[in-house]
Amino acid sequence: ATGYTALDQGFVNTASTKSAITYIDGDAGILRYRGYPIEELAKGSTYLEVAFLLIYGELPTPDQLGEFDEKIRRHTLLHEDLKHFFDALPHTAHPMSVLSSAVSALSTYYEDSLNVHDPEQVEISTIRLLAKLPVIAAYAHKKALGQAFLYPDNSLSFVDNFLKLNFGTMAEPYVVNPVLSKALDRLLILHEDHEQNASTSTVRLVGSTEANIFSSISAGINALYGPLHGGANEAVLKMLADIRDSGEGVAKFVERVKKKEEGVRLMGFGHRVYKSYDPRAKLVKESADEVLEALGVQDELLDLARELEQIALADPYFIERKLYPNVDFYTGVIYKAMGFPTRMFTVLFAIGRLPGWIAHWREMNADPATKIGRPQQLYIGPPERHLDR
Ligand code: SDX
Repeated sequence: ATGYTALDQGFVNTASTKSAITYIDGDAGILRYRGYPIEELAKGSTYLEVAFLLIYGELPTPDQLGEFDEKIRRHTLLHEDLKHFFDALPHTAHPMSVLSSAVSALSTYYEDSLNVHDPEQVEISTIRLLAKLPVIAAYAHKKALGQAFLYPDNSLSFVDNFLKLNFGTMAEPYVVNPVLSKALDRLLILHEDHEQNASTSTVRLVGSTEANIFSSISAGINALYGPLHGGANEAVLKMLADIRDSGEGVAKFVERVKKKEEGVRLMGFGHRVYKSYDPRAKLVKESADEVLEALGVQDELLDLARELEQIALADPYFIERKLYPNVDFYTGVIYKAMGFPTRMFTVLFAIGRLPGWIAHWREMNADPATKIGRPQQLYIGPPERHLDR
């Protein structure tokens, strides 16, 4: 009934985690959220509708989606005291550090959202996280710019409100660019979940101790920060800019990667599961052309990325190791064209991934079979020995 082959069934019996949320076939490059192919959702749905699907298991009716959207709009305001939190941070603070710290601090404001056994409290904390994470993210961006924070504008859609919070100022009205809005919504959909990746596994592990959802999500943000995980989208832009500025050219850089010079890696390439083209990367690459053209942006880094991909996909070193572009390879070029600073790229990944983290936390939390996480280890230390005293 679930479509699993006997082989999959064998794997499921040994897998440490069973989940009904996302299915990936790394060899075939398949990604489905609650059974729906990512290609259909990316082109035919919205971030909030997919968030509802991931969290509640079914696509919402129009009324359910309207109610979900309305509840989120009603919770976009941060407690005024929380705004002083940002005063304590240097303007050079990395937005991912700001995000994980502020999300952890959220739990100090909501005594009515901390009981993980109370379905109503789980529900209100779900809505509060979805509503407030984008606001905290935009404040981290404004903090870095030294610009005043704006209040959320509940007359706007989720994505348009986020864009205004980031790029609007008190000095003039902000006009949303529909191309930017649609492209960002699609990119967020592509990041919404990805099975047991490092940050989602972290959220489930922390949640298995019955820690509240804000603390669990904050831990997931910290895991995503790493350059081998969500931090890769920021690292890709740095890699492309270094190639451009060094003047060494793409071919020379690829040779350095193959020689494994001081750990030089082709960031945005390779994956723990996909041993073929990441289906999300294909969709992001399509968007890159559309967005840059619509925004009238020329970016030599996109040309560099294409050249890099072309050379790598034809090189036996990468073919043997089944290294293909992953979701992070092209996203940064689009985020840059939208006007986001490089250090905000992983924050955008976190906003995208939030519904998946929440869905997994709730699935783990609701499962009566859930036990506190305790990853197994293989002891390879010294045998018993004694103090000769
Ligand atoms: C994400 O898990 C998820 O689903 C994550 C994610 C999600 O949606 O949550 O998909 C998001 O994190 C995508 C990945 C973003 N990270 C990067 O782009 C960083 C660069 N990628 C690599 O660091 C690496 O590919 C990983 C970490 C993503 C995957 O590591 P693996 O599968 O453990 O690969 P490996 O380290 O075992 O490498 C196998 C071989 C090695 O060579 P040999 O030792 O066999 O000679 O491939 C090489 C590695 O050196 N290799 C690379 C490489 N990735 C692997 N060589 C050059 N460049 C790379 N990017």
